[in-house]
Amino acid sequence: MPAIVVEHLSKTYYTYKRPPGLWNAVKSLFYRERHAVHAVRDISFTIEEGELVGFLGPNGAGKTTTLKMLSGIIYPTSGTAYVLGYVPWERRPEMQRQIALVMGQKMQLWWDLPPYESYILLKELYEVPDDAFERRVHELAEMLEIRHVLHTQVRRLSLGERMKCELLAALLHRPRVLFLDEPTIGLDVVSQKRIREFLMEYNRRERTTILLTSHYMQDVQELAQRVLIIHHGQLIFDDTLRALVERYSPSKALHLKFERPVPAEMLSRFGRVVRTDGLEAVLEVPREHVSRIASEALQVLPVHDITIEEVEVDEIIRDIFAGKREAVVTPS
Ligand SMILES: Nc1ncnc2c1ncn2[C@@H]1O[C@H](COP(=O)(O)OP(=O)(O)O)[C@@H](O)[C@H]1O
Ligand SMILES: [Mg+2]
Repeated sequence: MPAIVVEHLSKTYYTYKRPPGLWNAVKSLFYRERHAVHAVRDISFTIEEGELVGFLGPNGAGKTTTLKMLSGIIYPTSGTAYVLGYVPWERRPEMQRQIALVMGQKMQLWWDLPPYESYILLKELYEVPDDAFERRVHELAEMLEIRHVLHTQVRRLSLGERMKCELLAALLHRPRVLFLDEPTIGLDVVSQKRIREFLMEYNRRERTTILLTSHYMQDVQELAQRVLIIHHGQLIFDDTLRALVERYSPSKALHLKFERPVPAEMLSRFGRVVRTDGLEAVLEVPREHVSRIASEALQVLPVHDITIEEVEVDEIIRDIFAGKREAVVTPS
């Protein structure tokens, strides 16, 4: 059985608008205009045990809403889901013991306590035996490089240290499924990298199923083989990063450096000129003709350096979100 099964899951939030002004205030006592926000619209996917999947989408796309449903914090409007065979919003203790949710923007640790004290409270909650607890804290603290901060008040720690302490807290009870909502948000580049490395290693070691949201491509690009992309509440992509590049980008980027300036007009016969300053140029050329075009360019132009690259994943995703590349829902 897959670790996570999502079937036609939807969530609509209803909010009540009240236009400003006294008259509207009086009116709203009798009549309130209900406003629907379709945060998640009919998404379906499955995730196998041990997979590390990136869940990507711009702000407001529906990522957090999806994770909240999957961890049982909120009810869906329609559709269903199974996490380790349980319907999450039924909130069975057996399921709660086997999952964890970490939100980059919301800390669970007690602000005035050192992390270690919070861990002891969690140990009681999850009924972890003393020796197993000590080993676990030691092992995770080592991996996360936070042994030296375990006895410092959380409020005195840096954001990166706090995030690592949060991760340790979430993993104390060895959950089989880990939901991470923007775990690197607001962190400096070094901490981001450290957390990504930790997650990869942890996933490899313990085969924990991880679903990680980000609006930040770098996270997913370095971590996950597979990505889900959500946009306006709809799942628009579910496949590998490689498939993403091949599907949405039928071209490659030809980077050229010249010995002397070459006018743009001379370049356009080789492909679409992405940019040029005369001495350097980037051309977008069809994938299947790239080697022929490259050798022609070498013969005709004063080329002193040439490289062929994939169009950046980042760029592809940005274009999909901006509606510049056609996004196709993949049948699952
Ligand atoms: N509690 C709520 N009430 C009303 N609207 C909400 C609520 N939470 C989120 N939304 C709206 O639902 C949409 C999806 O939000 P969210 O799931 O937080 O997106 P993401 O995490 O991808 O940024 C947004 O338009 C957001 O404004
Ligand atoms: Mg969010």
